[in-house]
Amino acid sequence: MKKDTFRDELVDNYLERINLDSKIKSYFKNKNILVTGGAGAIGSNLTIALSKIIGDGKVIVLDNLSATQDGSPWNLINKPNVMFVKGDIRSDRDLKRVFKERVDIVFHLAAFFANQNSVDYPETSAEVDVLGMIKLLEISTLSEVEKFIYASSGCAIYGSFPELPLKEDFISMHLTTPYQINKMTGEMYCNYYMHHFGLDIVNCRFFNSFGPGEIPGQYRNVIPNFIYWSMNGRQLPITGDGSETRDFTYVLDLVQGLIKSAYYKEAIGENFNLAAGREISISDMAKQVQKVTGNEIEFLYKERRKWDTKPRLLASIEKASKLIDYKPIIDFEEGFKANLDWFKLFEKEIEKSSDFPPGMSAAVK
Ligand SMILES: NC(=O)c1ccc[n+]([C@@H]2O[C@H](COP(=O)([O-])OP(=O)(O)OC[C@H]3O[C@@H](n4cnc5c(N)ncnc54)[C@H](O)[C@@H]3O)[C@@H](O)[C@H]2O)c1
Repeated sequence: MKKDTFRDELVDNYLERINLDSKIKSYFKNKNILVTGGAGAIGSNLTIALSKIIGDGKVIVLDNLSATQDGSPWNLINKPNVMFVKGDIRSDRDLKRVFKERVDIVFHLAAFFANQNSVDYPETSAEVDVLGMIKLLEISTLSEVEKFIYASSGCAIYGSFPELPLKEDFISMHLTTPYQINKMTGEMYCNYYMHHFGLDIVNCRFFNSFGPGEIPGQYRNVIPNFIYWSMNGRQLPITGDGSETRDFTYVLDLVQGLIKSAYYKEAIGENFNLAAGREISISDMAKQVQKVTGNEIEFLYKERRKWDTKPRLLASIEKASKLIDYKPIIDFEEGFKANLDWFKLFEKEIEKSSDFPPGMSAAVK
């Protein structure tokens, strides 16, 4: 496996397998597409995929590189039709800079990630995920972009104890973190900009993404952190009893959903889940991590974090399948292998960028 072509090849292989309709490819041809948060876990994968279908168009990545410890953009793909602007969605100047490029479509993925981070820094969470987003919606409206696709979150919308599988017509007002509140607010602002100004928006509700591109860190998801700790021979902490389930979704399946969301007219003004539509328990996932990394240390069981009130997560993907022909194709084992290969290949870079600052997180306090 070669470092400089690894992620490119994964995306090529994926696009070949889903066999994107030629109508979708021609819709994207020569478009200028803004991906906020394009250096992040999901955004970097989306950027690679878009760069392959836009022809003479341009992907403009706006990212402040705040998600990693060293602020290095190594995770971002270097291609002639990808333009990287280091900047902040909260800055009018940075927004003007990127919208000068005549943006046709916006994929809004930048966020103050995620639950625990927002518990520790509630004001920054609102500044980025609400105020920053309003600025972006405002300039997108004024620039008359064709589509505004928003990365919402299933964990934000459905609260703690809804019926499974989670369907789009149920929403909860009982949210447990500022992140969840702000992600839901983001959806409501999208709806507002559509109804009041006619901006064509789509609310995509992601579930537990995993795959190449997600750097571990204090505030990151469980899979990259478990792989990282296990590769380093450390004990895996399970907050709860391990029977909790999540709908872990391979990142390129989310990318498929995003691309189709921008293309299908039926998606405009809608909200829908993008997930794998299967449940995997935390202990099964952790056992798999240990097996492939040769780690036999017993798990360390800890109390669930106060905000972590969801014993199970499973999404219905019926609506996305009907509206945008969404079909996740990667099973957990295959996605997990790709994730692990990426970790092994980029071990040194990941070590430098992973963000585990010293001191106690509010999770432990
Ligand atoms: N990863 C998941 O499991 C998941 C689940 C549900 C929803 N989402 C949503 O999907 C989106 C992408 O998630 P991800 O996992 O790729 O997160 P990520 O943290 O890897 O990527 C977000 C990117 O946004 C950038 N960013 C943060 N604040 C910014 C700002 N003020 N201005 C410009 N850039 C900024 C970060 O540097 C980072 O590169 C987020 O909106 C997230 O809320 C993710």
